[in-house]
Amino acid sequence: MSSKTEGQTEQAPVQQVQTEGKALEQAFERFARFSDPAAVAQLDLDASIAAQRELAEVRTSSLGKKSAWAATKKLIGRVGPEERPVVGQLVQEIENKILALADTIELNLKSHIEQERTARESIDVTLPGRRPPYGHRHPITLVRERIEDIFVALGYVIEDGREIETDFYNFTALNIPENHPARGEADTFYTQDGYALRSQTSTVQIHAMQRRGVPIRMIAPGRVFRRDTPDPTHNPMFYQVEGLCVDRGITMAHLKGTVTEFLRRMFGPDTVTRFRPSYFPFTEPSAEFDFSCFKCKGAGCRICKNSGWIELGGSGMVHPNVLRIVGVDPEVYSGFAFGLGIDRMCALMYELDDIRLLFENDVRFLEQFE
Ligand code: FA5
Repeated sequence: MSSKTEGQTEQAPVQQVQTEGKALEQAFERFARFSDPAAVAQLDLDASIAAQRELAEVRTSSLGKKSAWAATKKLIGRVGPEERPVVGQLVQEIENKILALADTIELNLKSHIEQERTARESIDVTLPGRRPPYGHRHPITLVRERIEDIFVALGYVIEDGREIETDFYNFTALNIPENHPARGEADTFYTQDGYALRSQTSTVQIHAMQRRGVPIRMIAPGRVFRRDTPDPTHNPMFYQVEGLCVDRGITMAHLKGTVTEFLRRMFGPDTVTRFRPSYFPFTEPSAEFDFSCFKCKGAGCRICKNSGWIELGGSGMVHPNVLRIVGVDPEVYSGFAFGLGIDRMCALMYELDDIRLLFENDVRFLEQFE
């Protein structure tokens, strides 16, 4: 006997089968305890999955086509006819026993894994719920809503305009002449098919009068767009609110009274408003309005740049051409209009140095306002 292999081949076939049968049992020995479901129940999900995988590997390496056991089974064909039934029966007994053990373990592991997975996925209804973090309104929305509340209380309706406009609504109907610089591409954004992104909410005056007729009292808050370079007081997209009141006998006194009352309700009862002559194509006469600084009450401070006054917007009496273009007789009706920038008003109220902060979407900044 020069080697172990030769020695084995010299063993009687029955002995050979028994030796290989022992080796098989040894290969499965470390899983044997899992034939008891109670032992499997001790495993957590990950360990059960690992055991299942290892078992499958051992099954392939010990019983598969290339295994020593597969080679042993070939003995059945090689032994003499009188030994064949004995060897065949023994092989079958050993294999049945091992397969039954492996199947039981496999089944135990599988059902335990299913149970563990179900338990992991099930919802414990007794646990307290997870609260989603509350969002809150953007500072511009807060200011817009305050403005809306004040004007609704004064009997105004709120109009919603369009952000993309035709030349007619953005310019012509607002009495802006053909050669006016605002029509140029240096001031206004255009779509490729020639529509303008509205550069002021005054466009809503026209839509509102066409839709509702007169008399009318409305405000229209919304986004507007200008080719302005961003800086602490300018953005290419910002918010305005437009106001329009048309009825019989409306005068400049109504404009001054309304704007003054609005600013008192917005910034406190001792707020003083002043009007300065100005020019807008769609109002005549036109005026810009300022209010006394709410911080220093007119004494001069950082917010009002030491002037005591804060500039807020433009206004005036609706130009007769604007009334005519929507079919309203300027001999019968008159009206006032005003417009102001919400972003700058928001920056004033919250003492922001830079209106660009409002659109940087930094949650740490935005969550300070409520
Ligand atoms: C107008 O837009 C007129 N439509 C206002 C008006 C309405 C006059 C009705 C008469 C009757 P103006 O161009 O001045 O006016 O703009 C109004 C306000 O928008 C300014 O006072 C300012 O607060 C704000 N604003 C203007 N440009 C910017 C910008 N680039 N970024 C932020 N706010 C701006």
